[in-house]
Amino acid sequence: MYKRSIEDPAGFWSEIASEFYWKQRWGDKVCDENFDVRKGNIKIEWFKGGITNICYNCLDRNVEAGLGDKVAVYWEGNEPGLDGTLTYTQLLQQVCQLANYLKDIGVKKGDAVIIYLPMLMELPIAMLACARIGAVHSVVFAGFSAEALSQRIIDCKPKVVITCNAVKRGSKPIYLKDIVDAAINDSSQNGVSIDKCLVYENPLAMKRVDTKWKEGRDIWWQDVIHQYPTTCPVEWVDAEDPLFLLYTSGSTGKPKGVLHTTGGYMVYTATTFKYAFDYKPHDIYWCTADCGWITGHSYVTYGPMLNGASVIVYEGAPNYPDAGRCWDIVDKYKVTIFYTAPTLVRSLMRDGDTFVTRYSRKSLRVLGSVGEPINPSAWRWFYNVVGDSRCPISDTWWQTETGGFMITPLPGAWPQKPGSATLPFFGVQPVIVDEKGVEIEGECNGYLCVKKSWPGAFRTLYGDHERYETTYFKPFSGYYFSGDGCSRDKDGYHWLTGRVDDVINVSGHRIGTAEVESALVSHPQCAEAAVVGVEHEVKGQGIYAFVTVVDGVPYSEELRKDLVLTVRKQIGAFAAPDKIHWAPGLPKTRSGKIMRRILRKIASRQLDELGDTSTLSDPNVVNQLIELADS
Ligand code: PRX
Repeated sequence: MYKRSIEDPAGFWSEIASEFYWKQRWGDKVCDENFDVRKGNIKIEWFKGGITNICYNCLDRNVEAGLGDKVAVYWEGNEPGLDGTLTYTQLLQQVCQLANYLKDIGVKKGDAVIIYLPMLMELPIAMLACARIGAVHSVVFAGFSAEALSQRIIDCKPKVVITCNAVKRGSKPIYLKDIVDAAINDSSQNGVSIDKCLVYENPLAMKRVDTKWKEGRDIWWQDVIHQYPTTCPVEWVDAEDPLFLLYTSGSTGKPKGVLHTTGGYMVYTATTFKYAFDYKPHDIYWCTADCGWITGHSYVTYGPMLNGASVIVYEGAPNYPDAGRCWDIVDKYKVTIFYTAPTLVRSLMRDGDTFVTRYSRKSLRVLGSVGEPINPSAWRWFYNVVGDSRCPISDTWWQTETGGFMITPLPGAWPQKPGSATLPFFGVQPVIVDEKGVEIEGECNGYLCVKKSWPGAFRTLYGDHERYETTYFKPFSGYYFSGDGCSRDKDGYHWLTGRVDDVINVSGHRIGTAEVESALVSHPQCAEAAVVGVEHEVKGQGIYAFVTVVDGVPYSEELRKDLVLTVRKQIGAFAAPDKIHWAPGLPKTRSGKIMRRILRKIASRQLDELGDTSTLSDPNVVNQLIELADS
């Protein structure tokens, strides 16, 4: 199949696409692309002219095929014992009710809708409702701060914001509605006002009466949605019409709105899900990702539902009330496919095997990993302890931009190697290039790029096609540049080595160093900041910040805490620096460029590997930094 997908991509993908419902088949060209900036603007189109709807293919199509009574969503609440289910028919009805409401308040095809919800069933419902009416959803992870949310509201100018009043993470309530209020206030001061905010009442986390309310703008979900019909006609859209925007971090301070379209994304997420997890109709599938990230888009909502799968949506923290919760859930629902991130594997590994072995886990069949390279020791623990040495691990390498899996094992199809994402998925041609952009053959190490498009590729950065071309297609002409380093062994297996740009990967969350730096320097007592990633036992990478204070300001524990708080407020708790390193000065070249290479070495205390410091405008800075390292 791989060979065919490369030799005849049009034939390969159109055969698969034909399994879905198209109101009208695509035109002559299955794929039309320009992947080379030297030949003009970058353009990627798949199934252009084809008219379809992804919500219809996820729900109506499955109901019509007889899966109406099959459970689509098993919802497991934060508190053990709190749960719920939705069959495909029920899910379709709820999606239709919300879709009707959205239409009623004036949301039309092409309008943006921001969804700021925790992992309630209402989150995939909201995504699907937008897709049904052709609205473009932009889910913002509910761990982002008011300022980060406001930045996204200002960028995509949504017709409505969908949220809930509060959620409990572990035992702690988080007042999401307050965060949304602050974000909307901020965005309106920046010229983007929000007329409607739909709020789901989450009574276990917060009472309705305690929720701050703005009459006219705020509407309780439970007050309105049930009044709407449970059927709603589908808005048929072109394969290349936008499906969603998802903001992700890059190497500058401004998050990028990654735009995915409908047809290619649909075909690609469905196919990758089916093969990389060896999906069978009786499977019970659980992906621990939040729908606020791409993994939750492609592999909680769209990929599985396009296959008519039963999906677990878990609201809570994976170690609440204790480190056995995941396996409790696996046994409760007889989960067969379990997909998670290395950071969780490492954290559970640290808590000890007994939390795992006290549960049966017999139902498990396939395991999956995503978000960062999985270190061989975590891989082995996942394989031997969690999977009882009988479940293959799909270590899936991909990105927000790629829409779906790019390099991944197919379970059972070829031998695994702990720590390697192995070989490319159908239709994907990964190449490794050197600094000059020349492809390297055989065993090698270099920059990971992709030759030619695949159906799930993102089509642009919202409102900034130039940045799209500059970031991804200009570094190595003729290729998509992933931003990752990679080596290839003698068997052609791929070993991802991490980001080669100014992006760090903390617990599988992508964070731009520039974003953290700009949050830090917004503090009135911070003159300058430089952030680097440093190895972290559980999180993969930790955030290490060098901070120069304004002249005359003394270093203090209070200031340190205040700086961390500033980052939490501007981005979110997950981006809080692990370490603030006081820096009287930063190592800079004579032209003023910060030498991050040196900072990385100081942060990881590899002091004998500092390399040449003679090109620094003030080499003495390095000694000062080393002296202050543990202060
Ligand atoms: O560095 C790679 C890492 O995560 C980055 C993409 O992050 P994001 O867009 O947030 O998407 C995460 C979920 C797909 C990549 O550039 N990454 C993701 N999966 C793997 C990985 N690194 C190594 N192995 C993986 N399996």
